[in-house]
Amino acid sequence: MDRQYLIVGNWKMNKTPSQSADLVKEIVDLRRGIASHVAIAICPPFTSLDRCAALLSGTDIAIGAQNLYFGKEGAFTGEISASMLKDLDLKYVILGHSERRTIFHENNELIHQKIKAAQASQLTPILCVGETLNEREAGQTLATIGEQILSALNSVDSNLVIAYEPIWAIGTGKTATPEMAQEVHRFIRELLLKQFGENGQRIHILYGGSMKPDNAASLLKQPDITGGLIGGASLVAESFVNIAAAAPNG
Ligand code: 13P
Repeated sequence: MDRQYLIVGNWKMNKTPSQSADLVKEIVDLRRGIASHVAIAICPPFTSLDRCAALLSGTDIAIGAQNLYFGKEGAFTGEISASMLKDLDLKYVILGHSERRTIFHENNELIHQKIKAAQASQLTPILCVGETLNEREAGQTLATIGEQILSALNSVDSNLVIAYEPIWAIGTGKTATPEMAQEVHRFIRELLLKQFGENGQRIHILYGGSMKPDNAASLLKQPDITGGLIGGASLVAESFVNIAAAAPNG
């Protein structure tokens, strides 16, 4: 059987609802040219989710959100719950992105609560982990990633995706070399196997950080990189779909 890949677009705080609708239509058109062993998902801003979900219904492109709050409902002004997202037929929710950790001070414990809330509503969390440049230079990459993963995964199930996003590679044009990324992905795979047994083999481990059509193939052919979480390049339908097209066959 062909190796399965997952390519996810994280639109971050970009696109109004009408701009989002235009972009989704382009992606749906271009997706026809992409092999079926490459699954595709997009994560637009909250305000575009309803409209994009309607446009994607009946296609094989999945949709997710970029955050949630773990409370079920109630006095949490400005927040969105897992069940609100599930009601829109969403499949994924990105959690623990480094922009949320850094700008909005999210810590491992809060992210853990969010993962549990997502899974309790049958959403698949995409847990983002990654080291700063200082941590990499101090030789602490694997220790940082290990702590982020183990704290997040304490008593959760294997319905999840991991995204390794070195913080120094996000939006900077600097990519981890395929070998650097593979080393971390292998480490993550081993943690997943230890935690979930054979089910850990089926969990996608995406690479994120300046992934583009011209560097995607060399990253995606690494044995433990099974997809990508794409920021900037996911805002243009052609470059997003060309990343998906770069996934090796078989
Ligand atoms: P860029 O692809 O813009 O570097 O962003 C990566 C990212 O943060 C995806 O979540």
